Amino acid sequence: MKRMIHELEIKNMLRMANEALDRAYVPYSGFRVGACLKGVSGAYYLGCNIENAAYSPSNCAERTAVFKAVSEGEREFEALAIVSTGEQPATPCGVCRQVLVEFCDPEMPIICSNRGGKYNIKTLGELLPFAFTKGDLT
Ligand code: THU
Repeated sequence: MKRMIHELEIKNMLRMANEALDRAYVPYSGFRVGACLKGVSGAYYLGCNIENAAYSPSNCAERTAVFKAVSEGEREFEALAIVSTGEQPATPCGVCRQVLVEFCDPEMPIICSNRGGKYNIKTLGELLPFAFTKGDLT
């Protein structure tokens, strides 16, 4: 079942994700992404994509936000909003989905938006079904 998220909260999180997008460091792709991750404490963690001349050390906006949050002591999350500069709202890449699965439950809503405010909402479980998790290591 999809967890409900209020329209006002969606707008609030998208506004913050847009602010993070403006700080993206993207000299190679020119493709900006901003993320806003809400912890159960009520705190918001913002992230942007940060690219590198060697390409592979580049980090996505979503992982920047997750790593900021976890390093600040927050490990449970309510929702994620992402904004990107493409025409259509982009969804998190496969690596970010796997990182999200480590800390977020499958019902967590992920709001994906373009800069014009067109968005859709998917749950993490919809984006990464049959995920490999810590339970598989037992
Ligand atoms: N990117 C993100 O930040 N998040 C995504 O979900 C997809 C891709 C970044 C990585 C790279 O800096 C740029 O977008 C182009 O792939």
